[in-house]
Amino acid sequence: MIPGGPRHVAIIMDGNGRWAKARHMPRLAGHKAGVDAVRRIVRAAPRLGVETLTLYAFSSENWRRPAEEVSDLMSLLRHHLLAELEELDRNGARLGLIGDWRALKPDIVERLENAMEATRHNSRFQLVVALNYGGQDELTRAVQSLAARVAAGEIAPAAITPQLIEAALDTAALPPVDLIIRTSGEQRLSNFLLWQAAYAELWFTPTLWPDFDEAVLREAVETFARRERRYGGL
Ligand code: IPE
Ligand code: IPE
Ligand code: MG
Repeated sequence: MIPGGPRHVAIIMDGNGRWAKARHMPRLAGHKAGVDAVRRIVRAAPRLGVETLTLYAFSSENWRRPAEEVSDLMSLLRHHLLAELEELDRNGARLGLIGDWRALKPDIVERLENAMEATRHNSRFQLVVALNYGGQDELTRAVQSLAARVAAGEIAPAAITPQLIEAALDTAALPPVDLIIRTSGEQRLSNFLLWQAAYAELWFTPTLWPDFDEAVLREAVETFARRERRYGGL
């Protein structure tokens, strides 16, 4: 537990491919090592006082990768991440999902639905996985749902407020995002949590995702605790 640490941390897990390349290994080996890092960080986060951890696992733009890589990533999701479910449940953790994950293959959708249902009542920690997630896609879907309510005469256009938009986002039930971490040295959001990032603190590390561990997470959390957030005020 770190005083003044973030409650909700979101991570752009990047650099699996470069980690593998540096070892003359196929990209899949990097993604597998990335799954090990996920396991480590899901254990470490609650120890550091983090209540909600959101992980960017597959973006709505990652479909642009070669078919073989996409299918490798989907297999990992099927076999590894979901195998962690038992441990999540044992540790009182609940699984949440953001993104258009219902558009994934039906067997994956079914497993994800079962996993969410099985952990629904857990409240010690929340792991949120962003799957087939894009901030622009999320906002587009939110606008569509609000437009449908306007068209149905349920709400007036002027009744649309930031609060109403927030309630239409995938993250409606989550606490505000305090800290966004990106690994691998890239300094961009790549369509992650565009609306939610408004007043989040950003932290970048050259560490590649497969090398990310509790010590690096602790460094991010301690840096966050020393920052002053002003939200436009004084
Ligand atoms: C992040 O690692 C994992 C996903 C995007 C699924 P990358 O696969 O993007 O790794 P680099 O950026 O090529 O090193
Ligand atoms: C962002 O990483 C997406 C995930 C980590 C899932 P990318 O590797 O896809 O981002 P770009 O292409 O470098 O912007
Ligand atoms: Mg990348």
